[in-house]
Amino acid sequence: MHHETLDQAARGILRDNDRGRYTVPTAMLYPFQWNWDSAFAAWGFSRFDVERAWTELETLMAAQWPNGMVPHMIFHEPAPGYFPGPEVWGVGNQPPTSGITQPPVVATMARAVLMADPDRGRPRIAGLFDGLLRWHRWFMDARVERGMVAVTHPWETGRDNAPDWDLAMQAVDTSGVGSYQRRDLQQVDAGQRPKKAEYDRYLAMVGFGRDCGWDEATIRDRGPFRVADVGMSFILLRACRDLAVLAQEVGKPTREIEDWIRALTEGAEGHWNPDGGYYDSVDLRSGAFTGSLSNASFLNWYAGIENPGMLAHLHRIADEVRFMLPSLDPAHPEFDPLRYWRGPVWAILNALAGLGLAEMGHGAEAARLRRDAQALIAASGFAEYFSPRDGTPAGGGHFTWTAAVWLAWASPQAEGRF
Ligand code: DGY
Repeated sequence: MHHETLDQAARGILRDNDRGRYTVPTAMLYPFQWNWDSAFAAWGFSRFDVERAWTELETLMAAQWPNGMVPHMIFHEPAPGYFPGPEVWGVGNQPPTSGITQPPVVATMARAVLMADPDRGRPRIAGLFDGLLRWHRWFMDARVERGMVAVTHPWETGRDNAPDWDLAMQAVDTSGVGSYQRRDLQQVDAGQRPKKAEYDRYLAMVGFGRDCGWDEATIRDRGPFRVADVGMSFILLRACRDLAVLAQEVGKPTREIEDWIRALTEGAEGHWNPDGGYYDSVDLRSGAFTGSLSNASFLNWYAGIENPGMLAHLHRIADEVRFMLPSLDPAHPEFDPLRYWRGPVWAILNALAGLGLAEMGHGAEAARLRRDAQALIAASGFAEYFSPRDGTPAGGGHFTWTAAVWLAWASPQAEGRF
């Protein structure tokens, strides 16, 4: 298919999923506003409707909590077909939200939207900057331990069922969960979604947060789950670099942000698993590495960190799969090419890893990630994720962030950079 046809189809998906001031990831399966999905949507909109891109980010940041946290879901409209809805989260805000956060790509995407049209963007970023600064400060105060970002729920990482969480999740007590009906399995084949044992634990963790009123200190001291996510750490570090650039744009001091960049850069070394020779997540309760080389591990260049060992792993995996970048090392015993974050390719991760590789001089590797995303989308459409083995599309279809990444990065007219 010609790329102009795909450009048009991608714009059509963003328009279809546009609910006015926010964009749903895809109708039915995800009928609300999700935090990092929205940031990617803004990046996509910036290529043809920059005003709409800013509105997306403004709607998201308007849901910021008084403590600075920006929630991972905002329940703008009732959608009884989704579980777990606002009543399960028990957050009394208006509109209701979830009680956890998600990877902070907003500052990075806001910078990209600003670059798309600096004149129109300047007043809009001036309005968003303080909120972004407060969100990052919340991360540094409430979540950064030994320079790494602690997550309190796998859903915070966006990589819900990655093997990074397997061991730590075993300790989660599910005896209080009771019976419930999942709605995701009405939309997507069960083999492409998390398993029931995982879902029970996700709900137990939501229950713990709800019962303590989402009190960060209680969750830190007694919560069932606390893992330093390599993806969150790299994404926050990168976002702080972009936030410092935005600070200069709006004439605000950068010193505090520079301290954060230093702390996170030093902390990144805590993610280095010397046995596997790769960046890994760390169970903060036990101190153990999680033994998972994932697509998030390869965000080191995106965070501005060079590493020859990671490049060697990237080359090895590139020789093994037809389509880069699988969400799990195919050599991992849990690798499963169609099961959500345990194998499939996610175009958004190709984009982030690819941006970083290109910026740090690894043009050939960046080009492979981009070429494979193009090929997957051209052959199979704007799916949520794809098999790295044969390109089978999986999960939800008509997907916002796949369309957005096409427009902003993968499409031949996008040039593969910001
Ligand atoms: C879901 O519903 O599976 C989402 O990933 C939760 O954020």
